[in-house]
Amino acid sequence: MSESAKLAVLGSINADHILNLAHFPRPGETVIGKQYQIAFGGKGANQAVAAGRAGADIAFIACVGADDTGERIRQQLIMDRIDISSVETIADEATGVAMIFVNGEGENSIGIFAGANAALTPDCVERHQQVIAEASALLMQLESPLESVLSAARIARQHQTQVILNPAPATQLSDELLALIDIITPNETEAEIITGIAVKSDEDAARAARALHDKGIATVLITLGSRGVWLSEDGNGQAVPGFRVEAVDTIAAGDTFNGAFITARLEGKPVFEAARFAHAAAAIAVTRPGAQPSVPWRAEIDAFLQQQD
Ligand code: RIB
Repeated sequence: MSESAKLAVLGSINADHILNLAHFPRPGETVIGKQYQIAFGGKGANQAVAAGRAGADIAFIACVGADDTGERIRQQLIMDRIDISSVETIADEATGVAMIFVNGEGENSIGIFAGANAALTPDCVERHQQVIAEASALLMQLESPLESVLSAARIARQHQTQVILNPAPATQLSDELLALIDIITPNETEAEIITGIAVKSDEDAARAARALHDKGIATVLITLGSRGVWLSEDGNGQAVPGFRVEAVDTIAAGDTFNGAFITARLEGKPVFEAARFAHAAAAIAVTRPGAQPSVPWRAEIDAFLQQQD
């Protein structure tokens, strides 16, 4: 793949309302927060921003509401080097929202209102099929309607565009969709929901990866939190360890990993090196609060990696 290889990202855009508190509220309990911020997020947008800041030539297919938040997000995406010609503004809809609690350990718990993201229908995907056809890779997640993810994957296959799916949030996936995917990047929970194999060790990860290869997926990366990632290509697996950092919160760490990983692959980096580059980007992201405000730029990732050598 050449340096000018194009990336298409299809996915969600949210305004994240983030409340930091000592512990998650139990049913019926009220917990007083320590800090509150509204920041731009959404798995699709976070991955697009991670790719844009890492240097990808990227176009984003997504929907925002016809509100002030939607317009501000569009402007921010442009500043993050993203072609937003395929970001539609949906009349009479609000921009998607995520309500995020972050506890004292930096763990999070998220509730989502789809809003305009629900308008990313198969018809909408079809309106932007040229973007997919012209791209070398299409990166997607599961905060968009599943039938739209399937129709985008079908278009990609017709045009030899590589499909990378980050199957988050977790849900079961049809064999038809799995067979259209070239690279899949589940975490342990998502891998278990898709394959039925609980992932608690590298051996489990290898078994889950084999199950995904059997569905027709050539490259499997199972993210294992602070332990790194299990990388398996056509059945040959190895662990790619992550970097040790002091985490503030893990919001968008997986998104940053995905956007940075595909950017590195499109530059022609071998898959192990691309995973290491993605680990570096995610490691920086967890040291900063929020989703998109935490996503690093290319110079920061390169500097981080240099310090490790
Ligand atoms: O992956 C993190 C993202 O999940 C947040 O930005 C939030 O919007 C939810 O979509």
